Amino acid sequence: MRQSRKLDHIKYSLSLADGPGISGFADIGLIHNCLPNLGWDELDISSSIAGIPINNPLIINAITGGAHDVTTVNGQIAEFARLTNTAMAVGSQYAALEYPEVEQSYKIVREKNPNGIIFANLGAYATPRQAQLAVDMIDAQAIQIHLNVAQELIMTEGDRDFSGYLINIANIVERVKVPVIVKEVGCGIAKEQAKQLAEIGIKAIDVGGMGGTNFLAIEAARSQIDIYPETLSWGIPTAISAVEIMSVLPRHVDMVVSGGIRTALDVVKSLALGGTGVGMATPIIRMLHEKDIEYTVNWFNNLLHEIKCYMILSGIANIKDSAKVPVVITGYTKEWLMARGIDTTQYGIRT
Ligand SMILES: Cc1cc2nc3c(=O)[nH]c(=O)nc-3n(C[C@H](O)[C@H](O)[C@H](O)COP(=O)(O)O)c2cc1C
Repeated sequence: MRQSRKLDHIKYSLSLADGPGISGFADIGLIHNCLPNLGWDELDISSSIAGIPINNPLIINAITGGAHDVTTVNGQIAEFARLTNTAMAVGSQYAALEYPEVEQSYKIVREKNPNGIIFANLGAYATPRQAQLAVDMIDAQAIQIHLNVAQELIMTEGDRDFSGYLINIANIVERVKVPVIVKEVGCGIAKEQAKQLAEIGIKAIDVGGMGGTNFLAIEAARSQIDIYPETLSWGIPTAISAVEIMSVLPRHVDMVVSGGIRTALDVVKSLALGGTGVGMATPIIRMLHEKDIEYTVNWFNNLLHEIKCYMILSGIANIKDSAKVPVVITGYTKEWLMARGIDTTQYGIRT
């Protein structure tokens, strides 16, 4: 069952469109700087997540593993990660903890990219021992713990008990030897829960907001059930969630912005909202599926080039300074944030 689910997730993520919920980036405006006082060679796109240096701010977010048939896909993603010197996460490793015979579908990632930055991935129900096993399986530099309550609820075979997650994550943080990153998978994280997570010592939080890959739509398609568009749009748009999180995040906890990141401008807006990393999942497997590795590497290098162009145009020299440029927040995003007691004008006037 779990193995066929992995294949279905890839199949439907490739065939379904983003949304219907929107990421909110249309409400985020960067301001053109006609005097950036910067040269191309001065631009520095290196960054760090959870204390781990990364060569560029993009992270290939958790996608797959856990079935023999996805070993090739994971090998390709890892090869792409190696060629572009980009951090990547594997999909949930719970399958390999239950069925060691599918371990190779994860281990291939480390084999293909021996020196790369690789994140392990498990759900919030994992024990500290399981989390350490997942890390050791692929010699990961950090572990992502995913939160996916909405997805579980819509799955017929999904979990129904979500109690004790926070304390469980706190135990993982305390006992696992690598930094812990907590991520959503498409419904975003509100400031109240971001604060709780920061307080238990996680090192980074990954927005995983609404507007990109929609796991409610994927699960509905898998089980061939009709669900209302309003249910499919459950969640916090990525841009809104990023601002909510930043309003409570202590400086020592990093934010990864993800969920519907599709363009270089989305990336630079994410950095301006305070992300030190920006996650992407479906565009990468889609590109690898439709084209080949060489084409995907070129596409990615072009994306990095465009990111640098938008950095110059906004007067951003490096990732650390990107959250200092003014950002205009309008529309629904502004209304939401004001209703949540977050003053959006402070973004517009900062220097
Ligand atoms: C096929 C597929 C499988 C995924 N499996 C996992 C998973 O096992 N664990 C996890 O944390 N996120 C998983 N995700 C979610 C992604 O990491 C990411 O949060 C989500 O797709 C939103 O990013 P996107 O809009 O750029 O695709 C998966 C995504 C896809 C497309």
